[in-house]
Amino acid sequence: MIEHHNSYCFATMEAASPWALETYEAHGGYYAWRKILETRPPRREVVEQVKASGLRGRGGAGFPTGLKWSFMPDVEESYLVCNADESEPGTCKDRDILRFNPHALIEGMAIGCYAIGATHGYIYLREEFCEEPHERLLTAMEEAYAQGLLGENIRDSGITVELRDTLGAGAYICGEETALLESLEGKKGLPRFKPPFPASYGLWGKPTSVNNVESLALVPAIVRDGVEQFTQVGTEKSPGTKCFSVSGHVARPGNHELPLGTPFADLLELCGGVWNNRRLKAVIPGGSSVPVLPASAMEGLTMDFESIEAAGSLLGSGAVIVMDDTTDMVRALQRISRFYFHESCGQCTPCREGTGWLYRVLTRIVEGQGEPRDLEVLDTVPARIDGHTICALGAAAAWPVQSFLRHFREEFEHYIEHGRSLVTPA
Ligand SMILES: Cc1cc2nc3c(=O)[nH]c(=O)nc-3n(C[C@H](O)[C@H](O)[C@H](O)COP(=O)(O)O)c2cc1C
Repeated sequence: MIEHHNSYCFATMEAASPWALETYEAHGGYYAWRKILETRPPRREVVEQVKASGLRGRGGAGFPTGLKWSFMPDVEESYLVCNADESEPGTCKDRDILRFNPHALIEGMAIGCYAIGATHGYIYLREEFCEEPHERLLTAMEEAYAQGLLGENIRDSGITVELRDTLGAGAYICGEETALLESLEGKKGLPRFKPPFPASYGLWGKPTSVNNVESLALVPAIVRDGVEQFTQVGTEKSPGTKCFSVSGHVARPGNHELPLGTPFADLLELCGGVWNNRRLKAVIPGGSSVPVLPASAMEGLTMDFESIEAAGSLLGSGAVIVMDDTTDMVRALQRISRFYFHESCGQCTPCREGTGWLYRVLTRIVEGQGEPRDLEVLDTVPARIDGHTICALGAAAAWPVQSFLRHFREEFEHYIEHGRSLVTPA
């Protein structure tokens, strides 16, 4: 069973109004930011602290946050941008941080702006967050301004941090950091070529750091409690906690903030196990774009960046999609492929055309019209997309296909041979 653990992103959850400023302050909130406002440490000192904590970005790629901040040059105009686009299927933890602990994000952004030498930060939210998550964030920002925690020359410290919010228009591609920057600038959300990376050419061509909601929400605890405390939980290479969004065939789906390195079995137990007393068939451990793992690979697996990579997948956004033994893996893949086909921005030919091919071939197979050569398409097309596109949406579309075929090939072959699923429906 899971032991009691430190909780940062969801620390205020048990309170009557978890999102309120007074609740946040009662949990040690704004201590770190107030101290910075009073003592004005060299900004690089804050960067070093975050670097030493080993915090890895929680948006998907796991890039070290402190290292990213260390790339930010000393210039007059630079920006911090919070990625609250959260569109990877299965992922819903940023939404709950915004709903239940928006001040953790605001404090994280204030500290982040200071650390990278920026006076302005933008929070880019997916359009579907326009109600509760956005409203709670706006109220929290108002509270922070009213309390003199944000603004120009805050408390006569000489420090300025202004935060602004922006809603997207509901496009997965706008979660890709450079597409997000384009969208923030009021243009179509098309990813940019990299290099140059945002740290040298970002928002309006100025140095910019783009960080995920959860990454930023963890920063206040690191600065307040120190590196030692933060690294007390988690593993050596994956320190701290992670918010896991568990969905699919579990008795109680939901978000859970747990130490990285928690056994998958414990996470599953926390969610009431596989529903209806069925058996586990497969798990997508980090959002729909990462490779699926069969149940056998989940035995003894711990939930951290390095263990999941060693098992053949990725921790990604921490969205854990659980599938029971009645799951038709061909239909599941068809559904995933539809998403990436729909969300491809169309800028790169391999992605624009390839995602369509994959979806159409999978649809043909599911409809009982599959032909043996369709397997060849599924075997070859993903490799022609992955690595041949400007952004990683191509990889996101390719990896599910490759991994579903690697582990569940017989289901595809059965569909093609018999025109129906190998799996008995529930
Ligand atoms: C197609 C695509 C969609 C993405 N969507 C998101 C997203 O919704 N939220 C997010 O934080 N990162 C997303 N990312 C990753 C971002 O490009 C970027 O790596 C991340 O915001 C950096 O934050 P972090 O370092 O804190 O993880 C996406 C990447 C790709 C290629």
